[in-house]
Amino acid sequence: MKIKIAIIGGSGFEKLFAEAQRIRIGTPYGIPPPILTGKIGDRDVAFIPRHGYGHSIPPHKVNYRANIYALHEVGVERIIAINAVGAINAKFKPGDIVIPHDIVDFTKSRPLTFYDNAPVTHIDFSKPYCPELREILIRKASEAGVRSWDHAVIVCTEGPRFETPAEIEMFRRLGFDVVGMTSIPEAILARELEMCYASLCFVSNMAAGMQERLTPLEVMEISRRINLYVEQIIIEAIKAIPLERSGNCPCAQALREARL
Ligand code: HPA
Repeated sequence: MKIKIAIIGGSGFEKLFAEAQRIRIGTPYGIPPPILTGKIGDRDVAFIPRHGYGHSIPPHKVNYRANIYALHEVGVERIIAINAVGAINAKFKPGDIVIPHDIVDFTKSRPLTFYDNAPVTHIDFSKPYCPELREILIRKASEAGVRSWDHAVIVCTEGPRFETPAEIEMFRRLGFDVVGMTSIPEAILARELEMCYASLCFVSNMAAGMQERLTPLEVMEISRRINLYVEQIIIEAIKAIPLERSGNCPCAQALREARL
């Protein structure tokens, strides 16, 4: 049986799943955390905790290729990613939901592609997030009654340290809205395997220099506060995802005309 929808997020989502099972899959890139599979409503859904069960893998050490490859192996066509972000745009506040439309890569040392060899492959990334999945997330976030932003540029930094105030000021001047550490290369790799991918971000803090200091404790604290909303948006979005892909988004045919 193919599982067509996946969630990549923090741990704690296990409880949403009815009849959950864990499956272990090896990949050419290594072994990802076991994939949890089960039902949300009447849909079969897979779940990978990006940082491992028990949050032991830092953002720059996540095996993004193994995670995405394994989801592709079980048949996943659509991924909803959950990401904590800091707000660079002063209009955004802790507790807000953000569904970014574009992304900038400021990572430094991560394997970024499945296509290191011939044929040389350049996927189109003009719309880095699936417009159809985004539309569903935007609608469900709005229905959940939480403050949400449907247009935002996210910048992904290398971490694991938080940014300096000067870095954040640079990002602000460049027009970036939020900053996180986990969207790259996840979004790229999903597109490279022609999977739809969109991100549901929650603002856990104002970025460096916009508040006194930053701690992961604070990220966790806001995450706990906002989690009920995030869960509700995810559950409703999964119910609203059409059974078959329409073929009208750039994702399903990403490899067409992408090879030299
Ligand atoms: N910077 C980078 N990543 C983050 C932040 C931040 O301020 N908050 C949550 N993830």
